[in-house]
Amino acid sequence: MKHFSVFLSIIFVFYFLFTTTPSVHGRKFHSGCKKHHKGYGHSCNSTTIFNIMSFGAKASGVSDDSKKLVNTWKAACKVSEGVLQIPLGHTFMIKPITLQGPCMGHLIFQIDGTLLAPPKIGSWSKSNRYQWINFKWVHNLTIQGSGTIDGQGYNWWTPIKSKHISNIKPTAMRFYASEDINVRDITIKNSPQVHLKFDDSRGVKVDNITILAPENTPNTDGIHLQNTRDVEILHSNIGTGDDCVSIQTGCSNVHIHHINCGPGHGISIGGLGKDKSIACVSDILIENSIIENTLYGARIKTWQGGVGVVKNVTFSNIQVEDVNFPIVINQYYCDKTLCRNQTDSIAIKGVKFDRIVGTYSTQPIHLTCSDNVPCTDIDLSYIQLKPSRGPLRGSQLQQSLCLNSYGTSSGPLVPYSINYCLRKGGDESTLQISGSSNELC
Ligand SMILES: *[C@@H]1O[C@H](CO)[C@@H](O)[C@H](O)[C@H]1NC(C)=O
Ligand SMILES: *[C@@H]1O[C@H](CO)[C@@H](O)[C@H](O)[C@H]1NC(C)=O
Ligand SMILES: *[C@@H]1O[C@H](CO)[C@@H](O)[C@H](O)[C@H]1NC(C)=O
Ligand SMILES: *[C@@H]1O[C@H](CO)[C@@H](O)[C@H](O)[C@H]1NC(C)=O
Ligand SMILES: *[C@@H]1O[C@H](CO)[C@@H](O)[C@H](O)[C@H]1NC(C)=O
Repeated sequence: MKHFSVFLSIIFVFYFLFTTTPSVHGRKFHSGCKKHHKGYGHSCNSTTIFNIMSFGAKASGVSDDSKKLVNTWKAACKVSEGVLQIPLGHTFMIKPITLQGPCMGHLIFQIDGTLLAPPKIGSWSKSNRYQWINFKWVHNLTIQGSGTIDGQGYNWWTPIKSKHISNIKPTAMRFYASEDINVRDITIKNSPQVHLKFDDSRGVKVDNITILAPENTPNTDGIHLQNTRDVEILHSNIGTGDDCVSIQTGCSNVHIHHINCGPGHGISIGGLGKDKSIACVSDILIENSIIENTLYGARIKTWQGGVGVVKNVTFSNIQVEDVNFPIVINQYYCDKTLCRNQTDSIAIKGVKFDRIVGTYSTQPIHLTCSDNVPCTDIDLSYIQLKPSRGPLRGSQLQQSLCLNSYGTSSGPLVPYSINYCLRKGGDESTLQISGSSNELC
């Protein structure tokens, strides 16, 4: 009891201090702009800093600072130029939270310290294991700083034995139905599953970030895009156990460049069309990047039975080093042992692989398109792929394969057999493509 009252007086002193100190957590805003619009003046344009420490965060790295972060967010969200600060040299343990918008104006989330996810699976509520830090309906946000978002995924990576726990594993940072989002400079690591996900969003720029997870971790994609358009991802280093960037259905106008990818599964579009679903992906440009020590390089994968189309995709000037399968289109994607072939398949057309140069360790080109819906307008130009010198990871070198793939190849091509890989022609009217469903997109 005695301890409790001491605790209360400490809280009181802190409360008193912070509500009378005119420097941090919004005082500047209140004194400067209170006159306008009942305290939330649109005309107030000065930056106001909201430091999580001023909202009572313990920063012990163990005690739960989630509510403090949510409160700091709410305060910063109410001003037109708020800066939410996670200070350098401090670590905050944060449980799954939703940071909701829209906010008053441009918000800067300045992360210089570390945000830690709860390490034990048991500390996640059973009903919310979809994501850790969830941004929802946010417009015009910049996340920046030298700090780290650490998903502490170790306990999730080993197969979950209990039947009572579902297979759902959290994404570290998710943006849902958000717009004009800029993520730069930070490090995101060791997510239980996907590291950074955007869905139903528009206007995304990811610049100069680092994403890291051990090579052998399951489904730890770097960046996952779904139903998201107008995206630029640049100057970033991504190395995880799965795709560096994964582009799912509903994405268009995506530009990825100057990425270092690896280890992991390369940069992929798909898997699309699972369970006979519709998928539409278009206008994707991936260029000037390095993919090193990965299972795949530039890849498109679709399930049998899906409908829709993938079109206008360019992979250009990609340096690959020690990649098992640098160039892949797989219309028979299946993560089970056997999937039946179907009549329908997502159409794939207008895909260019240009200046893919470096070393491979299994098969330089692997294009397996479906019988009913072949891939058309495929362009292979200036492909220079030599076997890597490293150990062959238990597999033999294989010849290039282009099944049901139509298009043209040009420029010097190494190995020379690539010249004969694609089939000439491929005019859709003459191919009598069935089961394709362009008009759905
Ligand atoms: C802030 O407001 C003042 C006065 O309304 C204006 O002169 C100034 O240009 C504004 N600054 C910014 C960065 O918008
Ligand atoms: C973001 O907010 C700032 C400040 O309120 C504004 O000037 C800018 O136009 C906004 N940007 C977008 C893309 O909405
Ligand atoms: C990239 O991010 C790092 C780490 O936060 C930072 O030190 C560096 O200045 C950033 N580079 C650029 C060009 O912004
Ligand atoms: C193909 O996509 C690129 C962006 O990656 C875009 O600039 C170009 O206009 C698109 N081409 C067509 C024919 O739509
Ligand atoms: C599906 O079709 C492809 C191409 O004809 C064939 O190679 C493959 O063996 C078939 N798969 C199954 C499971 O029937």
